[in-house]
Amino acid sequence: MNVLSTTEDRDKRVLELYEKVLEVEQRLIPTGLHIFGRPSDAHEILDLLHMVASFDRPELGIRALPDLIAEGLHFPAYATLLKESGASEPRLAERERVEALARQAIKLFLNAPVVVDAPDDAANEASHFERRLKWAADFLSEQAAVAFTEARKIFSLLTKLQTQLQTNHETQALLRALRGEYIEPGPGADLVQNPAILPTGRNTHAVNPYTVPSAVAVARARPVAQALLEKHFNATGRYPETIAMVLWGIDNIKTEGEAVAQALWLMGVRPRRDALNRATDVEVIPLAELGRPRIDVVMTVSGIFRDLFGTTMALLDRAARCVAQLDEPEDSNFIRKHLNQQTTTGDFSFDEAVVRVFSNAAGNYGTNVNFMVLESQWQDSQELGDLFVTRKSFAYGRDSQGRSFDGREAKRLLEHALARVEVSYQNIDTTEVGITDVDHYFEYLGGVSKAVEKYAGARPTIYLSDTLSPLAKVRTLEETIRLETRSKALNPKWYEGMLKHGFSGVAEIEHQVTNTFGWSATADAVDDWIYDAVAETFVLDEAMLERLRSLNPHSTRTLVGRLLEASGRGLWQAEQAVLEKLQEAFTGLEDQLEGVG
Ligand code: BEZ
Ligand code: MG
Repeated sequence: MNVLSTTEDRDKRVLELYEKVLEVEQRLIPTGLHIFGRPSDAHEILDLLHMVASFDRPELGIRALPDLIAEGLHFPAYATLLKESGASEPRLAERERVEALARQAIKLFLNAPVVVDAPDDAANEASHFERRLKWAADFLSEQAAVAFTEARKIFSLLTKLQTQLQTNHETQALLRALRGEYIEPGPGADLVQNPAILPTGRNTHAVNPYTVPSAVAVARARPVAQALLEKHFNATGRYPETIAMVLWGIDNIKTEGEAVAQALWLMGVRPRRDALNRATDVEVIPLAELGRPRIDVVMTVSGIFRDLFGTTMALLDRAARCVAQLDEPEDSNFIRKHLNQQTTTGDFSFDEAVVRVFSNAAGNYGTNVNFMVLESQWQDSQELGDLFVTRKSFAYGRDSQGRSFDGREAKRLLEHALARVEVSYQNIDTTEVGITDVDHYFEYLGGVSKAVEKYAGARPTIYLSDTLSPLAKVRTLEETIRLETRSKALNPKWYEGMLKHGFSGVAEIEHQVTNTFGWSATADAVDDWIYDAVAETFVLDEAMLERLRSLNPHSTRTLVGRLLEASGRGLWQAEQAVLEKLQEAFTGLEDQLEGVG
């Protein structure tokens, strides 16, 4: 049967594909490693400022440039254009017009000619800004009725960021630090998330854990929690009763607790602040307002989170206890439902069955699942899930008498909690580090998913959010890996950017392949075509293989070996001819490194 039997079907499919291409094209990727002490180049600055300008900044009273342009053109709001462009050609055309104008205006603003005409530097700078603003604003007003006062606000921010990106005091700051001198503090985040991180070269500070989650984090978390539930509902026709959620420390510093706030939303509570504005308790959102059941959330938190956010772990534990005790129907309150199931069998007390916050034992960090994968020290993938449980099965919180049980061994409780899980999830709040850039995503989210597979008897559906895309998207793990692979490992802009760094660039490419393999090992979530294309790009292309080999034969050998390992473990169905070429390349690299031949 031809699935594209009508012209309409065909047009719909073409539009969907076109939107996918846009998604890959517009994804912000690093095109090289940061070089300490070196400021950003012009192209990077344009990309970054375009991204910064694409978000509303209510805290600064600034509206997103694409939204101003959409309004000036009498189009629907930019968010609507994004939402509808995958199914409507006119919306897609409007979206592309808006995006092109925004980029063009920023480019004009950045490249306006410099004229020195004022008596001193400050006055020169001010008049230069006015000239550049006029340059961009005139262009915009010719195209769309963009309010000048609104444009001035956004371009004022951009001009400040441009100056900060063009200067770099990292080396001086390092030398001052080595001399034991004072380094100015600054927040840590993604530039798009919080432009106040500039200038770099400062002493990055954390947040007061009592402020977590902040009001902004709570507001930003709601649509993401909703999108996660909707995505699963649309795919399966029901809400997941239990979600396993991974929480990290640094992410929650950067976002002041966006992921923490998501966990609270899922359970159907919001933070309640005391007289000192500390988030120490929760307020129950009535079911009528929530409009859906309260989800059971099993949280596995990193060692860093445990160290930094003790009060936040107490808040999350308190939230679960509070929800468990609400007098509500079981089909509207899955925490209560599961608690009832566990306590009526007599196997668990209330205080045992209500534990939802797990981490490492005191003083321990990480799952070690990544090390096991990197060193190929596993036979059966179940060992990876078992290791996760061994490392993360320590409970945190306070019992009904208010006594702390922080760090108590609780393997049986974690196993029972994981046995209920249908969905596993982690919030991704940055464009800087993706799930195939480092080994920590697969060790955590892959590790917990593998453990769920054993105790629940089925692999959970695995989701990741992308809270920095303008629509706060949620994607499945498989979708995320495809997008990451297309925008990084298989994207010449990305790998050529890395190869400029020689030895370390090849190492970055190898890490990308190995971390992708980590998702095969823990979740079997990598399509065959991904390995086919990686082999084709980096090994079967002889000129490329030669470049990699001459720059860094060690990483090249690891990369080729990883592909062979994927095939050997049955995680990639490769063609025999391809495997033979890989084997030949591997043997050649081995010989080279051992000085043979
Ligand atoms: C964290 O911030 O909690 C974290 C950072 C790196 C790896 C794992 C966790
Ligand atoms: Mg496979």
